[in-house]
Amino acid sequence: MAQLWGGRFTKETDRLVYRFNASIAFDQRLYREDIEGSMAHVRMLAKQNILTEAERDQILQGLEGILKDVEEGTLGITDQYEDIHSFVEASLIERIGEAGKKLHTGRSRNDQVALDMRLYTRKEVLETDALLKKLLEVLLRIMEENTETIMPGFTHLQKAQPITLAHHLGAYFEMFRRDRSRLADLHERMNVCPLGAGALAGTTYPLDREYTAELLGFDGPMSNSMDAVSDRDYLVEYLSAASTIMMHLSRFCEEIILWNSNEYRFVEIDDAYSTGSSIMPQKKNPDIAELVRGKTGRVYGALISLLTTLKGLPLAYNKDMQEDKEQAFDAIDTVKGCITLFTGMLDTMVFQKERMNDSARHGFTNATDAADYLVNRGVPFRDAHGIVGKLVLYAIDRNKALDDLSLEEYRAVSPVFEADIYEAISMETCVNKRLTAGAPGKEAMEKAIVVYREYLRT
Ligand code: ARG
Repeated sequence: MAQLWGGRFTKETDRLVYRFNASIAFDQRLYREDIEGSMAHVRMLAKQNILTEAERDQILQGLEGILKDVEEGTLGITDQYEDIHSFVEASLIERIGEAGKKLHTGRSRNDQVALDMRLYTRKEVLETDALLKKLLEVLLRIMEENTETIMPGFTHLQKAQPITLAHHLGAYFEMFRRDRSRLADLHERMNVCPLGAGALAGTTYPLDREYTAELLGFDGPMSNSMDAVSDRDYLVEYLSAASTIMMHLSRFCEEIILWNSNEYRFVEIDDAYSTGSSIMPQKKNPDIAELVRGKTGRVYGALISLLTTLKGLPLAYNKDMQEDKEQAFDAIDTVKGCITLFTGMLDTMVFQKERMNDSARHGFTNATDAADYLVNRGVPFRDAHGIVGKLVLYAIDRNKALDDLSLEEYRAVSPVFEADIYEAISMETCVNKRLTAGAPGKEAMEKAIVVYREYLRT
């Protein structure tokens, strides 16, 4: 048990207390950020003549060695240290002796951990964004190939009006595009540096906080030292953005599970992304989609857990804040893993275009257009609605689609119908006449696709 703060104590910490208090089991993930932060701190201390250049170089060399050895696996991070900060400092002193003891001048673990977690989250924001971009590339490829692939659009899970696959997937494109803009927003807001805040009240050393902020790629130092050590808003924002991403993935997964079901058969998930049953030989299950849907709860859980931890915390640092890590790490791994797996599944999925078209044709998805046909010939909409309703009932009784009724059958209900009704209610007409901005008509969709292509180019 190696502790940084033994001086004031006369007894060893109880074994259970030590274990309960320690965070090394999970904060070892922050070793790179901890070392990078220390390097910037030491450079600044030497620039301010708080350390000599020789001490700086010795410390930098020692830290570089520790980083290299940890990455190469020759230096293990073990639970004999309380946390990652103690591990790095103790390893440094062991390697370079006296100079190592000066590393922590003008710094507290409170601003140190605030920095480490912020650096780590900032990197993950960018990685999450890059994964979303790859997902959008796949989505757009499928959209471009399917501006004429007709399928039923649903409300209440009842067939409503015909749309295209490109249009349906375009809705998800919009969702993930918003997710990326949320990440960009929070990245901008979080990019300020807590280092130099000390334990809570700054320090009496002449630290140059602008300089360390710049070395670490921040826009500047945080303005209030109490806030700097106790702010985890950026993590709340990341977990909130991650929860929204998971919600979007989960909705998409739900649709894929439906589309892949024996009843729909709109898609076939690739063998590589499906699993079998141990008892039923015929089964090919959409486990990956179900798992992504299922894992959404974990990410929501991390968000609620962090909000709850922070609620009611007095300023400034409190040990409760150590609880910001485990679930956040789990949520980060989960959301990145889910986006990656989902992208692969989508990329290899086969769309059964015939089935989709057939389904659109046999669900009276053109009933609205049949009513509009009458309206265009002078029938008031409410009457037209009633006339087509009767025709639908008539067709259902005979197990037919509206397109399959004869002109006589149409005219028996309303003499306004002419031979051009068939053209007016064909799936192609129904879709392609919908040309308002954001609608599924091919021309409207192609305009949107041009914008999406441009968006992904940068
Ligand atoms: N393990 C701690 C955390 O994750 C590091 C900061 C400890 N600071 C302290 N004053 N005990 O929050």
